[in-house]
Amino acid sequence: MERPIVISVGSGKGGVGKSSLTANVGALLAGKGYRVGFVDADLEGANLHLCLGVRRPRLNLQDYLSGRVKDLREIAVETIVPGTWLVSGASDILQLSNPRFGHKQKIITNLKKLDADYLLVDLGAGTDNTVVDFFGSFSYGIVIADVLPASVETAYGFLKNATVRGLSRLFPGRKDIHEQIRRFSDSRAPGGFATLERFLASLAAAFPAESRAMKEWIAARRILLVLNMVRSREDVAAGARLAEIVKKYLSVNLFYVGYVAYTNDIRRSLRRLRPAVLDGPSAQTRECFAAVTANIEALTRG
Ligand SMILES: Nc1ncnc2c1ncn2[C@@H]1O[C@H](COP(=O)(O)OP(=O)(O)O)[C@@H](O)[C@H]1O
Ligand SMILES: [Mg+2]
Repeated sequence: MERPIVISVGSGKGGVGKSSLTANVGALLAGKGYRVGFVDADLEGANLHLCLGVRRPRLNLQDYLSGRVKDLREIAVETIVPGTWLVSGASDILQLSNPRFGHKQKIITNLKKLDADYLLVDLGAGTDNTVVDFFGSFSYGIVIADVLPASVETAYGFLKNATVRGLSRLFPGRKDIHEQIRRFSDSRAPGGFATLERFLASLAAAFPAESRAMKEWIAARRILLVLNMVRSREDVAAGARLAEIVKKYLSVNLFYVGYVAYTNDIRRSLRRLRPAVLDGPSAQTRECFAAVTANIEALTRG
């Protein structure tokens, strides 16, 4: 088993509840006795610290990338959730929003060496390569959407980008393969494919080994879906629909691990810089986060 279990949290769209979910799920995992590390990889709008009672992180990823701090562990700070720590994002360094490839790789490689049972990596908004590369680099990813069509659509686009980019990265420097992958990523181009399954089937004739490697990469990924700001039963069904579409077009197994109801608890607790689950939330809020966390635990611990 991978140690730590690294779970990145992405969405494509901003403001759908990534940081709130990360903080609350992490707090519940810590409550079960797991050692939890939080990582704010939102390099443009880092704010996870504010969900975890850290007003102003002493050090952040910028100190590490600049070489001022040598060890990633040294920039971790304690949070108000007992048994957890936080590696904070780089809040005011704009140029970092598009870090060099080497920077990104350095963070990814060294995160995996940190000592924790779970590492929760809060990603930035958007579907650009920096964000989806983080998402594609760890075995587990949570994609979160609110129930509005725009958010569901963005979540799909996010997963498609992450898939295309992940497949391309399996074959560095292979222009021929990247050209082929474009037949799927740009499915409306002549000779394009709408579903990943058909694309891989067609690829198998000329590139059997590559096609197999792509299938294996897809099969090894575990993507979890959480729906946020749910207000009705119909809303809950939107998650199941997205999971079906993703399976059909991207061949990705999307595990729908639950939803979080729309509530004022989260906003109120955020103002107090605390995760809602530690702040006496309503029974509904507590139950939603508990169910999501239990499903995440079951999926990641086999
Ligand atoms: N389930 C929810 N119900 C109501 N408001 C929520 C819920 N989840 C998040 N919010 C609010 O939405 C806003 C964005 O949440 P945040 O976690 O910062 O999103 P992101 O990290 O995706 O940008 C915050 O003001 C938060 O209080
Ligand atoms: Mg956020």
